[in-house]
Amino acid sequence: MAKERVYLTDVGPRDGLQNQSKLLTVRERVLLISALIDAGVKQIEAGAFVSPKAVPAMADTDQVLAAVPRKPDTRLQVLVPNLKGYQLAQQAGADQVLFVVCATETMNQKNVRLSIENSVQQLAEILAQAKADQVDVLTCIAVAWHCPFEGLTPVSSVQRLQHQLLDIGANQLVLADTIGAANPASVKQLLAAVHGQGQNTPLACHFHDTRAMGMANVAAALDSGIRHFDSSIGGLGGCPFAPGATGNVATEDLVMMLEQMGLDTGIDAERLFMAGHLAGTLTAQATGGRAHKWRQLQLAAGKSIS
Ligand code: COA
Ligand code: ZN
Repeated sequence: MAKERVYLTDVGPRDGLQNQSKLLTVRERVLLISALIDAGVKQIEAGAFVSPKAVPAMADTDQVLAAVPRKPDTRLQVLVPNLKGYQLAQQAGADQVLFVVCATETMNQKNVRLSIENSVQQLAEILAQAKADQVDVLTCIAVAWHCPFEGLTPVSSVQRLQHQLLDIGANQLVLADTIGAANPASVKQLLAAVHGQGQNTPLACHFHDTRAMGMANVAAALDSGIRHFDSSIGGLGGCPFAPGATGNVATEDLVMMLEQMGLDTGIDAERLFMAGHLAGTLTAQATGGRAHKWRQLQLAAGKSIS
């Protein structure tokens, strides 16, 4: 019997790199994305069309998109905060865009300098243009569990925003635990509430591992029926506008866990470890996650890694 597929989007080239003290060159960013493509990652968040003054690490994302050797079954996604970002992404040939709106007013203001209402209005325009352009739009509800400024995010706030988003035609949602403050119980609680009014809208989850609950949260979301996750090569990650945010769940850890659970990611673990090694070398940072350390110990002891 064919194994059940779980879809992963590696957000390392965006969420991972936006928070690094070392800025990578376009060539280095392209190398990292190419290594992920070689490992069989089918969806990659390759950059962001945001103000280069606000996030210098994401400048020149157009050049990155132009230089990545594309494969027909690989989709390059970029983050956009507003209509201008969408237009730049479309011109640069992004396959899909991720529009971010925060579940709390303070975080939305800090992140994109817009009220939630204004963000939703911009998304409505983006959805209309993207339909004509045949660009896929995913909508991320950021700080869905916890906000660094307002504290716990009420489930009702996420439900209200979800309702507004579905109303204007958003048809693929991502729930993000931007600062890594969710736990398996709160993951199940929010997913039950969101599924209740989701009308089968495809839903993905994006977890950070700040409090060491990233993988537990993935397991809880799997139990709740989620089959699409964001993760980051080498566990890089964090948001410059959300104090306390650290790395995403590491793609290497996620792939190892899912495959050992009998699920299929379509990703070649060995090549992924090579991409993780490259991420560490390029960013001059020790990579996060645990799988690669376990693998090294096993290999050093001459033992199997399957
Ligand atoms: N991409 C590139 N430049 C953009 C842009 C975009 N999507 N949107 C606006 N700008 C430019 C404007 O052209 C203007 O440029 P100028 O100073 O050379 O004239 C400048 O940014 C200011 O424009 P304005 O509309 O007043 O934006 P702002 O100062 O209110 O900033 C954002 C709004 C969204 C552009 C900015 O806050 C941002 O980029 N935030 C990044 C969010 C992010 O990446 N968060 C992490 C991931 S969730
Ligand atoms: Zn994130």
